[in-house]
Amino acid sequence: MKTVNTAKEVRTRVERWRCHGRTIGFVPTMGALHEGHISLIQAARRACDRVVVSIFVNPKQFIPNEDFGNYPRDIKRDSRIAAAEKVDLLFAPSVDEMYPEGFDTRVRVSDRLTETLCGLSRPNHFSGVAVIVAKLLILVHPHKAYFGQKDFQQTLIVQQLARDLNLDCEIEVQPTVREADGLAKSSRNGYLSEEERRAAPIVYQALKLAEGILQVGERNPRDMIEAVNKRLRSESLIEIEYVAVKNANTLEDLNVLTGRVLTAVAVRLGRTRLIDNIIVEVPSGS
Ligand code: PAF
Repeated sequence: MKTVNTAKEVRTRVERWRCHGRTIGFVPTMGALHEGHISLIQAARRACDRVVVSIFVNPKQFIPNEDFGNYPRDIKRDSRIAAAEKVDLLFAPSVDEMYPEGFDTRVRVSDRLTETLCGLSRPNHFSGVAVIVAKLLILVHPHKAYFGQKDFQQTLIVQQLARDLNLDCEIEVQPTVREADGLAKSSRNGYLSEEERRAAPIVYQALKLAEGILQVGERNPRDMIEAVNKRLRSESLIEIEYVAVKNANTLEDLNVLTGRVLTAVAVRLGRTRLIDNIIVEVPSGS
């Protein structure tokens, strides 16, 4: 595996592969690689001739007082993991490389997709994601780029961005990878104290409750949201940020629970913010 740190090097190497007719799969990450990232790398490996992974803790997607300074960084460990997964190229740029002095471009994707769910409590977070993903997709110019369903809102925003800017890349969404007790794998799980870690699976239990409620025929969003809230409130350490039920294609509110129904949750456990979601297909008229 080759590691490069500059935009020029990543571009040159990938262009060479493209000239030789190779397909490129790309997994953008902020490092602290875990099984969720590994499943994205493996999906890229299966579908493409060459796999590129980026590691960049993107300051623009952290809002003031978030964990940018403390975000886990261990490039040696991440390099070992990426090499073991047969990644061909690791791109690990510095902040100055991605945002040199004078950088002054913002990318604002659909308000419908960004001004809801996590966008309400994290202003400018998604424009920070959009600008870095746009830059990375332009530089790496992959045939396919891989994202996890845990960050479902992010996947819709990236799909919109790639479509609108003709980035010429398929956005692939892979299922959330979970711990045995259901907790979604996340680089931030390491912040949880033992007690918080024991409480954390309530999030997935509440989402499974939502799925069960839909399957037995509940069609009223307000009752569903109340049931999920109630389950989460049964765990005293949990502070609920939101429980939302949306159309999974558009993130619009639903009056009746039919179609692709997204149930999404954000909570705080002590200092740690956790998000998770589940999508259930409800046939209309059922
Ligand atoms: O999902 C992430 O880890 C980040 O938001 C991403 C897509 C790598 C952009 O910084």
